Amino acid sequence: MIDIHSHILPEMDDGSKSVDESIKMLSSFAEQDVNTVVATPHFYIGETSVEEFLEKRDRCKEKLMVGIGDMKRPRISFGAEVQFFPELYSMDRAEELCISGTGYMLVEMPFEEWNRYTYMTLAKLYTAKGITPIIAHVERYLDFQKESDIEVVKKLKDVNALIQMNTSFLTYKPSRRRALNLIKKGLINFLGSDTHNTETRPPQLRPGFDIIYQKLGDDGIDAFAYWGEKIMEKIILV
Ligand SMILES: [Fe+2]
Repeated sequence: MIDIHSHILPEMDDGSKSVDESIKMLSSFAEQDVNTVVATPHFYIGETSVEEFLEKRDRCKEKLMVGIGDMKRPRISFGAEVQFFPELYSMDRAEELCISGTGYMLVEMPFEEWNRYTYMTLAKLYTAKGITPIIAHVERYLDFQKESDIEVVKKLKDVNALIQMNTSFLTYKPSRRRALNLIKKGLINFLGSDTHNTETRPPQLRPGFDIIYQKLGDDGIDAFAYWGEKIMEKIILV
């Protein structure tokens, strides 16, 4: 299992606050048999440059690598959760914010109704930069849009975006049916924990897959297995 959305880097963003906390998060992933975790700290344009962000990420990575020693842990890759902005496709060095080695960028979309320019910006990421956007926690934008859940995700697919859903959308009973409805249609490519800490936003991935398996069987898991393998072909891990 791969978690492509996490805030496990110590003292990097509003995620893990210490190396100790990061170690607890990684141990929990290991107990769930999660073998790969992508660290995706927030990148906010206006607050930092790509250069500053990457330097800070390197420092936090070093701290973490020293702290974790030879503990039993998933392998780790590095990326960013990049805040959407209209000129994202023309930003210098944007490709360096992709998940290492992959050309896939986790993008946090605006929490408002999207228009055709929003979708066009996503499309241009690929045409201008060869970057494939992965929409972070897709469930969090759906209520801002006029169309149905399925129509919104299909429009994202039409501009070649991949889709990530947070595990909590499945584990939280009131939203489970809505989550399964999208998964059943094969519209979700990745699950993510979006973990920020060990308490209120814990490193939970397996419970999501357990629910999918219980409710939909192998058919439900297949798309995730396919995209998990596909990303593993190129990803750089430590
Ligand atoms: Fe996140």
